[in-house]
Amino acid sequence: MSGGRVVVRAPAKVNLTLAVLGKRPDGYHELDTVMLALELADRLEARLTERPGVRLEVHGPAAEGVPVDGSNLVLRAAGGLLAEHRPTAGLEFVLEKHIPAGGGLGGGSSDAAAAVLATCLLLGLEADAPQRRAALAELGSDCAFFLAARASGLARCTGRGEVVEPWRGLAFPWPLVLVAPTFGCATARVYQAQRGPRGEFAPLTPSELSQLSRAELEARLGNDLLDAALASHPPLADFRALLEEAAPGRFQLSGSGSSWFALASDVPAARALAERVASVAEARRYALRGPWITRASGAGVVREA
Ligand code: C5P
Repeated sequence: MSGGRVVVRAPAKVNLTLAVLGKRPDGYHELDTVMLALELADRLEARLTERPGVRLEVHGPAAEGVPVDGSNLVLRAAGGLLAEHRPTAGLEFVLEKHIPAGGGLGGGSSDAAAAVLATCLLLGLEADAPQRRAALAELGSDCAFFLAARASGLARCTGRGEVVEPWRGLAFPWPLVLVAPTFGCATARVYQAQRGPRGEFAPLTPSELSQLSRAELEARLGNDLLDAALASHPPLADFRALLEEAAPGRFQLSGSGSSWFALASDVPAARALAERVASVAEARRYALRGPWITRASGAGVVREA
């Protein structure tokens, strides 16, 4: 199809396991991580217009602080495609933000992948072309996941995160409780504080995912970036202490932080866990973002209407 309007859902992600295998000559870190896309999602509406150029409007509950200038990945992702394939046309995007920024939840990367999918749909281009994947990986290491794993929402990602092996046909039945402090973590600062190869958390396997109980699975999760996130963002230690008081050993850091997640057996258990976190935060007069209760989405970026 070309012409018209499309709406794409851009899900958040968490890293179920994240192993850092070492620093590469290009300065990035070699990763082995299993990523899961969530129902918590941004919504990107795109229109093809006759007025040349790419324009972006951002609103929604998590819009604060999201750039609308050329640094926004939506503009960068779509701008390149438009310049190459339809330089005389224009694109207008309206981004409804729900995913907290700076949370290690891949919001900006997912928006970039959504912009690529929307632009491809509007211009009649193949979204899965290798040059599309390469261009997305240039914008951010975890952008490729949201496009490549769009039929599963679950993948093992290696390289600097951009080499995606989607895992299809696996259910992830556990609701997640997600919570973040009011500040975000700067990904580059976290990686700078990373010391030595760790590789402590071997990637989860598809058979573990389908066989482990909720508690076994939770015990199997882990993130090599935890110490580096705490060292580079000292206030994160207070937030971690709060979560440990509310639910000892349950919460995991997602990506480079600052959000954490836990798995629950069912929605009532997720609600009870979220309430425990909220009441400990209230007793400590600690301001939170969330908690949110969400599920695995089973999809990456996907057309909505
Ligand atoms: O690729 P992305 O823009 O998300 O990365 C942000 C920063 O995080 C990079 O500039 C780099 O310093 C660091 N990083 C890294 N190794 C990775 C991914 C990111 O060192 N695999």
